Amino acid sequence: MEHEITLVVNGTARRVTVPARRLLSDCLRHDLGLTGTHVGCEHGVCGCCTVLLDGEPVRSCLTFAVTVDGRDITTVEGLAPAGGLSAVQRAFAECHALQCGFCTPGFLCTVTALLRDNPAPTDEEVLEGLSGNLCRCTGYQNIAKAVHRAAELLAEES
Ligand code: FES
Ligand code: FES
Repeated sequence: MEHEITLVVNGTARRVTVPARRLLSDCLRHDLGLTGTHVGCEHGVCGCCTVLLDGEPVRSCLTFAVTVDGRDITTVEGLAPAGGLSAVQRAFAECHALQCGFCTPGFLCTVTALLRDNPAPTDEEVLEGLSGNLCRCTGYQNIAKAVHRAAELLAEES
C-alpha cells in the first residue's frame, strides 16, 4: 500500500507517494533526487545518512518516510546559503576534514546542529558530539579541528 506524504525539504514542500516501509534515506535519494545524503551501513551505526529533522540530527536509514509526514527536513544540500558554503562546510574544506567525502554529509549535519546548540564546545564536547558519526578514511583529528574552526567562523559571522 502506498501513502501520499509531504516533506518540507530544505524549505520546500515536496509531495511524494511512498510505500509504508520506504526509508527516509531512500525517499530523499531516489524519490526526491537528493543524493547528497549518503547511505553506509543502513543499520544506524555509521551516521553517514544523518539529516536534520526539525533541526535535530536523525539517522534517515532508521526512519520511515511516512513517519515524518509534514515535518521539516534539512539535508546537506540545504545547509549552505545560495551560491556559497556554510561556515561548517568552509571549515571542513579549510581543515582538510574530508578525504573520500563519503561520511562528510552526515558530519556536516551533525556539526551544524552541535554548534547551534553549543557555539563554543570544548575538545571533549566536540569528540562527544562527533561520536555518532564514523569516518573510515581520515581519522578524527582534522574533523575535530574543523568543528573548532567552524565555531570561530560562526562567531565572526554573528
Ligand atoms: S547508513 Fe544510516 S547510520 Fe549508517
Ligand atoms: S572521508 Fe572517507 S569515510 Fe570519511
